[in-house]
Amino acid sequence: MARPVIWIPRHLSPATLERARRDYDVILKDQDTPGTAEEIVEMSARADGMIPCHSEQFTAEVAGRLDPRLKIIANHSVGTDHCDLKALKARDITVTNTPDVLNDATAELAFMLMLGAARRAVEGDRIVRSGGWDSWSPSYMVGKQVTGARLGIVGMGGVGRALGRKARGFDMEVHYHNRQRLPPDLEQGASYHETLDSLLEVSDFLSLNCPATPETTGMMNADRFARMPQGSILVNAARGALVDEDALLSVIEEGHLAGAGLDCFLTEPGGNQAFAGHENIVMMPHAGSATAKTRDAMGFCALDNLDSFFSGDDPEDAL
Ligand code: DGY
Repeated sequence: MARPVIWIPRHLSPATLERARRDYDVILKDQDTPGTAEEIVEMSARADGMIPCHSEQFTAEVAGRLDPRLKIIANHSVGTDHCDLKALKARDITVTNTPDVLNDATAELAFMLMLGAARRAVEGDRIVRSGGWDSWSPSYMVGKQVTGARLGIVGMGGVGRALGRKARGFDMEVHYHNRQRLPPDLEQGASYHETLDSLLEVSDFLSLNCPATPETTGMMNADRFARMPQGSILVNAARGALVDEDALLSVIEEGHLAGAGLDCFLTEPGGNQAFAGHENIVMMPHAGSATAKTRDAMGFCALDNLDSFFSGDDPEDAL
């Protein structure tokens, strides 16, 4: 049987590409730039499968134009908000994602954002780097202590639970809100809050770790920020769509929130330049899962899903 052809629009890790080329006929885009709707449609007539990232948009409109040759979209991402799953299902296309393999890397970055915002990393770095460090006093660069503080986690999936584990190493009191309460072995002592509003009220730090869905889009709005304690800090290493960015800017400018750590924005790439003048906002360019180890694991997970599919089995991470 002829080897399946797969299209890989982004430049995945060398180990991933090596394995993909060993087992498939790979079409790789020359430039490591997001695949456009036209490219996706064109490649659907030349490939049996694809390994896209969250940068390729499979809207209902694109799904409707896909060639029937394309059978599987093995995403190189855990998030699938770039895919209209219903429209792809209607075209009988299998869609998979890469859950769990990026939990630790993403939680690690969320923790870095939390520490960076709490301990004024952007401001401190700028002061030393610019040669402007000319004094010291007991009241200088005083931040917020993370150790022993209360951490609220919204979404206790794999990343949320990994963050909870790291937080326990900092003696944090972990609270969470999730659609369903977790069994005790997964909860690991974290306190469940049936409502988001109840969680907000006890969160010195609040970390968003849930997917962007119609229900969660814009959930952190002015009312919700008002419920957070004075001087609290928001961390978002999930999706920009969860946050009303104007409302966040207002609560930071008013001083109700002491800061924020953001790895994702409503507009990506690019981010929100309105945040740029605020050194109490630590920003990263959607790099939660960007470690060499995790990139390999994501690539291999996507390939495992393709392998199962083309061997006639159900891929483990089919959605
Ligand atoms: C994911 O896997 O969803 C990350 O955001 C990177 O795409």
